[in-house]
Amino acid sequence: MPREIRVAIAGIGNCASSLVQGTEFYRTAQKKIGLMNDKVGPFKVSDIRFVAAFDIDERKVGKDLSEAVYAEPNNTRKIVQARPIGVKVQMAQPLDGISPIAGDKIQQSKAKPSNITKVLEDAKTDVLVNLTPTGASKASEMYAQAALQAGSAFINATPARIASNKVWQSKYKKKGALVVGDDIMDQIGSTVLHKNLLSLLVDRGIQIGETYQLDIGGGTESQLALDKKRYEIKRGIKTAAVAAAVPYKFPIVAGSSDFVDFMENRRTSYFWIKGEYFAGTDFTLDMRISLEDGPACAGILTDVIRMVKLAAGKDQRGALNAVSSYGFKAPPKRVPLENLNQELGWMPKGPRPN
Ligand SMILES: NC(=O)c1ccc[n+]([C@@H]2O[C@H](COP(=O)([O-])OP(=O)(O)OC[C@H]3O[C@@H](n4cnc5c(N)ncnc54)[C@H](O)[C@@H]3O)[C@@H](O)[C@H]2O)c1
Repeated sequence: MPREIRVAIAGIGNCASSLVQGTEFYRTAQKKIGLMNDKVGPFKVSDIRFVAAFDIDERKVGKDLSEAVYAEPNNTRKIVQARPIGVKVQMAQPLDGISPIAGDKIQQSKAKPSNITKVLEDAKTDVLVNLTPTGASKASEMYAQAALQAGSAFINATPARIASNKVWQSKYKKKGALVVGDDIMDQIGSTVLHKNLLSLLVDRGIQIGETYQLDIGGGTESQLALDKKRYEIKRGIKTAAVAAAVPYKFPIVAGSSDFVDFMENRRTSYFWIKGEYFAGTDFTLDMRISLEDGPACAGILTDVIRMVKLAAGKDQRGALNAVSSYGFKAPPKRVPLENLNQELGWMPKGPRPN
């Protein structure tokens, strides 16, 4: 098996920026700190090679991917100065990628949209990562269809219903290609913390009374959260992912609540839990975390990309339930992480909460 993973990206925003910069960082880093897994099967992060990229913003289209990742309105931190990659960002059809609420953030390019399937085929793409904005369901479907036609695997990091949609699952299975998603679950972020906190409390015999998780941030994605209707799908996915940690129904609210532009790509999440322990004694837990979205997204994507390549080598086809449960909030089917062994013939070292 050649040790190269040929990756295309749709949507060169903050997540893509951290993914491209982080891949460059780990290529040369002396210490591999901050990675969930140094190796996934035989694959290192440095085996990831970017071969195609798509966006719709004139500040990104036509630029080398290594330049486009720093273009405005991206506002995630600069990790490294990326070396030229030799991949020009191609124009795509915007469809619903420009939201009414954050429309002023995008300056639409006048370039002609490329033939995505052909670009993916010509680049011999192993996997297309969809990083278009929340609410861009039609654009996400356009990329899912192009990857399917090209026979590339599809990673849906967005909340659009692709991997969790039975129609897409069977199309990918029939083609013999792989699909994982939906809505990436950060390496460290509000959902993974909240659900594991609740899971710990349930294991300790605590009766959960009520809980909320609210956050404010400054990326375009946080601005989109102000459009309650468009963001409904994301809120629903977050709530369902957290609620799945508790085996009974209880009042829960989980989702982004406000946009503060000077926070740039940072996000602060507030957690509140009320419950009862021994003999009905009540307690409350109040916690908050501040972090940056782009690197939190890239931290898990680097694992998922390598897992998908590993699964392709094992002749898997269709939706990958274990990889999706490991890396996403809305997997096609929520399964225990031990199933990774079955799906990939590989498991992360040590206990891994999902
Ligand atoms: N930690 C995280 O950041 C995180 C966590 C979970 C899920 N996600 C999901 O990842 C996705 C990307 O998040 P982000 O913060 O990088 O967003 P972003 O707004 O920074 O970037 C989105 C990019 O998509 C481009 N775009 C819009 N329409 C397009 C189209 N039709 N074709 C190609 N490109 C198009 C925009 O120009 C922009 O460059 C979102 O759907 C988000 O919900 C992110």
